[in-house]
Amino acid sequence: MSDTELYDIAIIGSGPGGYHSAIRAAQYGAKVALIEKKNLGGTCLNVGCIPTKALYASAELIQRIRENGEELGVSCDIKLDFGKAVERKNKIVSELIGGIAALEKAWKNDVFMGHGKILGGNANDGFEISIEGEEKKNIKAKRVIIATGSSPALIPAFNIDHDRILTSDDILNPDFKIVPKRLLIIGAGVIGCEFANIFSTFGSKVIMLEYLPSPIATEEPMVVKELQKKLNSLGIEVHVSQNVLSVDSTGTGVKATTCSATVPRDQLESAEKSYFEADYCLVSIGRAKESGNLGLEELGIETARGSIKVNLKTLETSVKGIYAIGDVTGGIMLAHVASHEGDVAVANSLASLGGFPVEERITDYKVVPATIFTSPNIGSIGIRRKQAKDLGYELVMGRFPYMSLGKAKCMGEEQGFILILADKKTHKIIGASCIGAEAPELISEIALAMQHGLTVHDVAETIHSHPTISEMVLEGMEDVFGLAIHKKGRPIHH
Ligand code: NAI
Repeated sequence: MSDTELYDIAIIGSGPGGYHSAIRAAQYGAKVALIEKKNLGGTCLNVGCIPTKALYASAELIQRIRENGEELGVSCDIKLDFGKAVERKNKIVSELIGGIAALEKAWKNDVFMGHGKILGGNANDGFEISIEGEEKKNIKAKRVIIATGSSPALIPAFNIDHDRILTSDDILNPDFKIVPKRLLIIGAGVIGCEFANIFSTFGSKVIMLEYLPSPIATEEPMVVKELQKKLNSLGIEVHVSQNVLSVDSTGTGVKATTCSATVPRDQLESAEKSYFEADYCLVSIGRAKESGNLGLEELGIETARGSIKVNLKTLETSVKGIYAIGDVTGGIMLAHVASHEGDVAVANSLASLGGFPVEERITDYKVVPATIFTSPNIGSIGIRRKQAKDLGYELVMGRFPYMSLGKAKCMGEEQGFILILADKKTHKIIGASCIGAEAPELISEIALAMQHGLTVHDVAETIHSHPTISEMVLEGMEDVFGLAIHKKGRPIHH
């Protein structure tokens, strides 16, 4: 072990958790090894957030021209070229991968391409890690951060053959340039709805099958209702409360067999069946944690159903000196949460070593914005109305529609609304949901307000630039107390 290179921190996995941690650690002066078995950037950059947003941009442009073009005085025949959109997406991905590589290099971090596995060791003597790629190499690190992420969940009965029955990884493969005539999507969650929007815009007839009684069931029901209007207008069929029993490839197409989700497990065989046929099927039913072959069992790192168990405050695993962050911990599976966790794990790793200009830190999940790039976009934060009720909050709410906002009207973006939830006693903001133009951006202002415990008045009394979409936040806050200027109401009485 003595002749192997010694690092302060080794990070396994280079998604938004891992590559971010590597740069952060270098900023504090640490000697860093970053290990990646596929491509820099992980799911987010290669087969997640970034490529879908690149395709979304094409879909959005098509929808804008189709829906508003004529009214805005821009009439044209649209020629769709999905292959070109995919090539643009590929270019963006490879440029950003190059960007991460350049940043790691600039910070003098060593990037190793290969599968990392912790072979043994402890927090006093350091840990030995093997890297198996084109070359085999062992390194040693005083602290380790596992940031290996997740991959699409597979169910045997869905017969995912990566040919006709696909995962989101397959559909975002650089060579996948097909617009299926009919696309069946299993799971109407975040991934399912984002792809439904993209492919239906490019011409697919999209059919979605969802187990729960609603698509994107984590969002506020009135937001989902608004989204459903758009799904309907795009001709997307959403079949809810469907238990998908099997998916089979017919060679030239796919066929799914379902029954009602209310049928008990022991009666599935005799239950009345429905059949759905299409040319391709996308399975988007959640994600499995990438925790295999990392040496966890040998080291005694505790896991639960594939997730690496961590102290939720410090992110240390059951083995001192080894931390885990991001999707692999089974927490909130969002890129920005993984990056936040990276900051915490790096701070705790380096603080425990001593000699670095950083102190111990704990996680803070109080304010986690979430965004969904359907059309219209969705942004949400904090708790929903039902949760607020369950938690015993007395609520005050504000709601403001896009159609009443000057800037939104000018942009031809009149669909949607913002909903603000505040605590009746303190007037502090406890949640917000927004569906409409720039919703994911609007949520950032509310995140800042919530992070600092601001009240509805604090935000409403802040001058917002006119004319901007950010005035949606202003009017939404004002409406909590019946003071929105561009909404009919009644005088306020004591
Ligand atoms: P998800 O949990 O959002 O949705 C999966 C859906 O599939 C759920 O509605 C679930 O009820 C349904 N489902 C599960 N099993 C089923 C079955 N057998 N038959 C029919 N329906 C079934 O998971 P998804 O969409 O795969 O996304 C994975 C993760 O990636 C999520 O944590 C999400 O937050 C994240 N993500 C975030 C994005 C963003 O921030 N914009 C974009 C895409 C994904």
